[in-house]
Amino acid sequence: MRRLHPDVERVLATEKQLNDICKKLAKKITEDYKDSGRDLVFVVILKGSILFATDLIRKIPLDCNIEFMKVSSYGAGTTSGFIQVHVDLKRDIKDADVILVEDIIDSGRTLEKLSQLLANRGAHSVKCCTLLDKPERRQVKLEADYTGMVIPDEFVVGYGLDYNERYRNLPYVGVLKRSVYESK
Ligand code: IMP
Ligand code: MG
Repeated sequence: MRRLHPDVERVLATEKQLNDICKKLAKKITEDYKDSGRDLVFVVILKGSILFATDLIRKIPLDCNIEFMKVSSYGAGTTSGFIQVHVDLKRDIKDADVILVEDIIDSGRTLEKLSQLLANRGAHSVKCCTLLDKPERRQVKLEADYTGMVIPDEFVVGYGLDYNERYRNLPYVGVLKRSVYESK
């Protein structure tokens, strides 16, 4: 087994737990969409969600499309109320069932804005599937339709999640030591 990264204080979700979370979410999504008769499009929010999305989507035995969006919030470091779209969908989502795949919901602003954007493009439905949720940090009224794990208000990295683009390749989700970002 790989040793704990020295910048990680403790593990919140192990590889095994992450796999179980993906299984559970995949089962629920499969059940909910198996008889829809509409196009199913997973919109994977880059970059944080890619590891989660690949594990999740391969467990869903339904016909589907995978699309990517890359968005960022204005203002350095923190999440503000505006998002900018850097990578957009390559297909029309009119009348499709869309599932946004997100790594973590913090303030909720990213998913709020994205859901509105995709609904305005004529999607039949837009649902949100998030690996992690930090409800204590919420600034807008938003709840995911599928949530893997609720976590406390701490900065986490690994399994796709980064701090300054690092730690995405850790196979677990862990709390980053405060000294890593408070010394800067
Ligand atoms: P929201 O719009 O505030 O919900 O922002 C969610 C985005 O903030 C996520 O997609 C992440 O990119 C980033 N984020 C929020 N909390 C964390 C964290 O604990 N670790 C890594 N990224 C985070
Ligand atoms: Mg993200």
